[in-house]
Amino acid sequence: MSAFDIGWVRSQFPALAMKVNGYPAAFFDGPGGTQVPQRVIDAMGGYLATSNANTHGAFATSRRTDEVIAAAHLAMANLLGCDAEEIVFGPNMTTLTFALSRSLGRDLKPGDEIVVTRLDHDANVSPWTALEERGCLIRWVDIHPADCTLDMEDLRRKVTSRTRIVAVGYASNAVGTINDVEEVARLAHEAGAVAFIDAVHYVPHGPIDVRGLDCDFLVCSPYKFFGPHSGVLYGKRERLLRLRPYKVRPAADSLPDCWETGTQNHEGLAGVTAAVDYLAELGRRHTPEAQGQRAALLAAYDVLRAYERGLLEQLVPAMLEIPGLTFYGIAEPSRFPQRVPTVAVRIAGRSPRELAAYLGERGIFAWDGNYYALNLSERLGVEACGGMLRIGLVHYNTAEEVDRLLEALGALAPRG
Ligand SMILES: Cc1ncc(COP(=O)(O)O)c(C=O)c1O
Repeated sequence: MSAFDIGWVRSQFPALAMKVNGYPAAFFDGPGGTQVPQRVIDAMGGYLATSNANTHGAFATSRRTDEVIAAAHLAMANLLGCDAEEIVFGPNMTTLTFALSRSLGRDLKPGDEIVVTRLDHDANVSPWTALEERGCLIRWVDIHPADCTLDMEDLRRKVTSRTRIVAVGYASNAVGTINDVEEVARLAHEAGAVAFIDAVHYVPHGPIDVRGLDCDFLVCSPYKFFGPHSGVLYGKRERLLRLRPYKVRPAADSLPDCWETGTQNHEGLAGVTAAVDYLAELGRRHTPEAQGQRAALLAAYDVLRAYERGLLEQLVPAMLEIPGLTFYGIAEPSRFPQRVPTVAVRIAGRSPRELAAYLGERGIFAWDGNYYALNLSERLGVEACGGMLRIGLVHYNTAEEVDRLLEALGALAPRG
């Protein structure tokens, strides 16, 4: 395997050349949405220029559109490790999850229980709590506030023979914790429940193998992994076939069409394929012997994960030296395999918005607030005071950017 070629990576993303107030832009806002490679922009524009049509027609642009849609299903199937017909596209993860919760809710009875967590983004909470209107009971799994990990003992207690759905995130979009979702799926199945995994925050950082996880459903959002704004739902074939989607009568009853309501964002799907191709090329550049798209994608994750780990090891210990800084989540480098490189902090005497604004003026983009991980922000007691500042590293960030960030945060620390 050759070394990680950060120069090649950055050359792929035109936005990384941006300047703000004379400073090179440093994009630490990846958890809210990543930048896209040129090939994604080209694919979207190319679709609109040459293939723009609706589906299943008897003419060239419609046939090309059918091919674009099929290619996107295949690309996502390679990324997640499933069959193309088990991939359902939609506008975003939240909309897909509400659609699925409504369908699952059709078969639920009053007294059925649903397990959700305090670590999750609200898009993996509110679609499930909405089923309280059908008489379902919500069981909350707590966290260990000291390191923002999920309390697995609490989860084991909450998953019982009454549980019908267990909804857990793969990685926290606020504090970066990776959950043991394989164990979550096992516990759910042992209880006869469905395992729903929100992988939105994991996919930019780590490989997914839905067969290995044995989850029933898994969702992600291409705009978080170098693609356009769109959402993806994986559903185990037998689950998708057994459930009844809300659909219009003329739409096909076959998979995945019966789940893909209305006209899709075709140009976005062209962009999704290009984003997956970008990752596969990254993998092949570092592991030329990788055979096939899936192997190339796994090779990409190997190399980008190692690179991101290096940035995290540069960032976190240095952050902990900053006076007045409170760090939320796993801080010991030896435990970094249990987290993705998304970190949340506060600095005494400054609101997270003040910190983000100071950084933003210097071309450093970072989010403040709760980023919809509302239950976590409340549980940590920071919701009423502006939440946290979130630094999200991805593989196009650099050691120089991390240094700039550390210097800027250091200047914000309380004096004396
Ligand atoms: C972990 C996580 N889940 C779900 C979502 C919602 O995704 P979407 O914007 O595709 O609905 C986000 C978005 O920030 C997220 O970070």
